[in-house]
Amino acid sequence: MRFVFVQTLIIPSALLLQGWAQVVSPSMNVTNVAIDLLDGSHILHFLDVVDAFGHVSARNPDNSSQFIMSFAVAPALTTSQSLVTYEIDNATAVQLTFNTSVTGDAVPSGFLERFIHSQIYKAFPNITGVVHAHTLNVIAFAAAEIGLRAQMGSAGSVGTLVNGTPIFDFDTLPTSILPEDAPHNLLIGNEALGDALADTFDNGSEVVLMKGHGMAIRGTSVRDTVFRAFYTMQNADVQSTASLLGALAMGGVPPAGLSPRVAMDATVTFESDSLLSRAWALWTAQVDQVPLYVNDLRN
Ligand SMILES: *[C@@H]1O[C@H](CO)[C@@H](O)[C@H](O)[C@H]1NC(C)=O
Ligand SMILES: *[C@@H]1O[C@H](CO)[C@@H](O)[C@H](O)[C@H]1NC(C)=O
Ligand SMILES: *[C@@H]1O[C@H](CO)[C@@H](O)[C@H](O)[C@H]1NC(C)=O
Ligand SMILES: *[C@@H]1O[C@H](CO)[C@@H](O)[C@H](O)[C@H]1NC(C)=O
Ligand SMILES: *[C@@H]1O[C@H](CO)[C@@H](O)[C@H](O)[C@H]1NC(C)=O
Ligand SMILES: *[C@@H]1O[C@H](CO)[C@@H](O)[C@H](O)[C@H]1NC(C)=O
Repeated sequence: MRFVFVQTLIIPSALLLQGWAQVVSPSMNVTNVAIDLLDGSHILHFLDVVDAFGHVSARNPDNSSQFIMSFAVAPALTTSQSLVTYEIDNATAVQLTFNTSVTGDAVPSGFLERFIHSQIYKAFPNITGVVHAHTLNVIAFAAAEIGLRAQMGSAGSVGTLVNGTPIFDFDTLPTSILPEDAPHNLLIGNEALGDALADTFDNGSEVVLMKGHGMAIRGTSVRDTVFRAFYTMQNADVQSTASLLGALAMGGVPPAGLSPRVAMDATVTFESDSLLSRAWALWTAQVDQVPLYVNDLRN
């Protein structure tokens, strides 16, 4: 914490020394969340949860009616100057988070699918982090119409629903949400589609699979949401292997996975500050070794 604190004091004054007077220093809370957002974007790429596509966002810690996410750029390439503050109300850009002289229409185009984020924040007031990713082994489960069930303690937030994680299927949306003449391209590009996705969440899981597309994950911090996204991917690997082994050994019996009590207790343990911090320390050390990733708020 002390390291982060010192960094936040240094950045604004360093920028001012270079003559960028239009840069107002965001609060310490916003800067700390932004540091995690940049690390989170890079970590998700490093760990193969996202590729050229996918995104992570955070609710604005200074204003719960707004969220912060990069404009449309591959997550590996995100820097402080790609972060945008958006209205949750309508997913419109307010300003570049670290350059208040760039506002409204002057902000570079955002992800079409920022409505995934705005509508999840709107539906769930306690949620402060969202990840959307096109993770391959997760897409395989949605394609087979098999929900994920927690198979290991670090993936407890996947949940233990009898039918597994809910699966959002674009093709079954009513025309009131997806009119005939609207593009049927799987993309969550407006509020109605975002609401339909948010409605698919079940209290028993923090994950929704998106058929032909990927997954959406909700969480209570950037670190927590990135952790959930990574371990949802790992869980998909374990569940496929266990299903194949089960097919060989037991005539197709799917793996039972964790019991609800174990999944719940394991989530509390694995998503504690102590274990989350241990994972984050490793992952930030790993992305720091790769020149592709630039966290200009921390380096
Ligand atoms: C910053 O975050 C801390 C911890 O969440 C909170 O207690 C504090 O009130 C926040 N500060 C501001 C100025 O919002
Ligand atoms: C929070 O954001 C909303 C929507 O942009 C805005 O109307 C409100 O004034 C903001 N509140 C503060 C305290 O900045
Ligand atoms: C978006 O929502 C905000 C907050 O409610 C509002 O101030 C703003 O006018 C809206 N913008 C558009 C383009 O609807
Ligand atoms: C902020 O935006 C203005 C206008 O585009 C630009 O001239 C300035 O260089 C930007 N500041 C930084 C720090 O990038
Ligand atoms: C949501 O937040 C409120 C207020 O902080 C709290 O009372 C409530 O228990 C939380 N709900 C969940 C599901 O975490
Ligand atoms: C899910 O949780 C929310 C918030 O805690 C609660 O309001 C709602 O009734 C729950 N829904 C079900 C089906 O249990």
